[in-house]
Amino acid sequence: MNTLNTVNKEATTMADEPSVPVSEERPAETLIEEGKTVGKPFADDPKFKLRNVEVRYGDTPAIKNISLDIARNEVIAFIGPSGCGKSTFLRCLNRMNDSIDICSVRGELKLDDDDIYDPRRDVVELRARVGMVFQKPNPFPKSIYENVAYGPRIHGLANRKSDLDDIVENSLRKAGLWNEAKDRLDATATGMSGGQQQRLCIARAIAVSPEVILMDEPCSALDPIATAKVEELIAEMSESYTIVIVTHSMQQAARVSHRTAYFHLGHLVEVNETNKVFTAPEHELTESYITGRFG
Ligand SMILES: Nc1ncnc2c1ncn2[C@@H]1O[C@H](COP(=O)(O)OP(=O)(O)OP(=O)(O)O)[C@@H](O)[C@H]1O
Ligand SMILES: [Mg+2]
Repeated sequence: MNTLNTVNKEATTMADEPSVPVSEERPAETLIEEGKTVGKPFADDPKFKLRNVEVRYGDTPAIKNISLDIARNEVIAFIGPSGCGKSTFLRCLNRMNDSIDICSVRGELKLDDDDIYDPRRDVVELRARVGMVFQKPNPFPKSIYENVAYGPRIHGLANRKSDLDDIVENSLRKAGLWNEAKDRLDATATGMSGGQQQRLCIARAIAVSPEVILMDEPCSALDPIATAKVEELIAEMSESYTIVIVTHSMQQAARVSHRTAYFHLGHLVEVNETNKVFTAPEHELTESYITGRFG
């Protein structure tokens, strides 16, 4: 894992190339070449193969010709200014955009070489394989036990009550919540603290044995201690799952991810090893963002 203590300007400025601020004379748009991403956007044997992806809301483009591989068992962070398309692109990976009527997705999007957007695909099964954790913890207004048991039950993963009990316990353990929850499994989930609720949502995602977990700013509603717990969890989970995390915290991206993808105005500007993105970014716009010139 990478550690980032401070993002300092000296460290991110190429020695032989003075940094040129993005300004009115050099608007960001002119520094982006559509469809061209600098760095290392591709991987051998990818979990997701995404090519020439375009997303529109009505006539307005939100994602413009993005190509990216997401490797197996990697943690990749999506960063970039508000409105640049991080959540939109993330939602393409398990077709969460389907529920937005005006949203259209084009391009090649494959999970393990199978078309995610194949009309014959069972979307419920897809979302069990590619689970999601949202910004605001959203447990069902049911007991802690029922929150975790619901998915395995509807997917037929447990035939007996004792099997279901095991799945609930294991999922809560993996989410680092068992000790806090074991004596109150029948208590309502909405009575837990925000950090506990978010770990419960992670347990709920884990309970159906996903292959991928998508996280859209999972810590933005949490305090630093709850955030640290979720980050620890991400590190542990990366041994078993592929994880895609959207974050506004560059420190968080640096702490938890192997690669970082920098988005800007619907383009994928740069993808590189996280350490490189934060110490020697290749693209001027990435550098401007990480040094705080905009965002
Ligand atoms: N449901 C929607 N209907 C119409 N436009 C949308 C919808 N959701 C997002 N957009 C637009 O698509 C663009 C990308 O939005 P998106 O939410 O993906 O950005 P983001 O990078 O996740 O931003 P943030 O960091 O603020 O969460 C924005 O211009 C936004 O206004
Ligand atoms: Mg977002």
